[in-house]
Amino acid sequence: MTATLIDGKELAGILRREVANRIAASAITPGLATVLVGDDPASGIYVASKRRLSVAAGIRDHHRHLPSDVTQGELERVVDELNSDAEVDGILVQLPLPAHLDTAAVIARIDPDKDVDGLTEVSAGRLALNRPGLQPCTPSGVIRLLDWVGVDIKGTRAVVVGRSDLVGRPQAQLLLARDATVTVCHRYTTDLASVTRTADILVVAAGVPRLVGAQHIKPGAAVIDVGIHRTDDGLCGDVDFDAARQVAGFVTPVPGGVGPMTIASLLQNTVTAAELHRRRR
Ligand code: GUN
Repeated sequence: MTATLIDGKELAGILRREVANRIAASAITPGLATVLVGDDPASGIYVASKRRLSVAAGIRDHHRHLPSDVTQGELERVVDELNSDAEVDGILVQLPLPAHLDTAAVIARIDPDKDVDGLTEVSAGRLALNRPGLQPCTPSGVIRLLDWVGVDIKGTRAVVVGRSDLVGRPQAQLLLARDATVTVCHRYTTDLASVTRTADILVVAAGVPRLVGAQHIKPGAAVIDVGIHRTDDGLCGDVDFDAARQVAGFVTPVPGGVGPMTIASLLQNTVTAAELHRRRR
């Protein structure tokens, strides 16, 4: 079998145009504040893409770049300022933060109604209880990809590899909310392949290059690769793509699979937050 490729670049483009149309058809100019601390090159590139594509869709850019030695108090004051700025509908603090900063305390400072990353405890609680709220961007992008290619999530067995706050945990919640039977694997899971081989939907967000090979995949499964790694022979994901495409029914490429969906979801969350704020005023 040769798997069907899931083109995240194409769907992300469609969704960004939808966002642009939603903004153009309304009297609202949503505002997004990205907060970048320090000069990590990868984070710098991600934030630049988020800003560029937001502006292209009609979102106002409220970027803050802080030095790598910013104190906890200074960073929290910036978040407080953005919380009380009526022009700012969404706040995104790019992770990871430098080691001297308390990430959980910074995230906790974000107004949940501006939490376009879906990372605050309030957003996570709403998601866990299956209530409306802003949801993390990468996992909701994964759900949109599955819907787009026609994978019917309800009743499937889904396995998520990885349990990070950013992807694994919310991904499991989103799949559960769509009536999948969900298993979460992590570094202490024994015989990973015996678990992942039960998956109709396999989402891999482990942060380990090419962790998943053909032996981990049920024939015909939808395999979603959230990883991205720079290696001597170019970019690769958490899935051995060449092996996976021989076994899977659907597979996302790296790059061009999940990555572009994260930003598309961020733009959607920002417009949703802006619409809610305008309705409340
Ligand atoms: N670092 C890597 N991905 C993300 C993301 O989706 N949001 C934030 N805030 N930081 C990240």
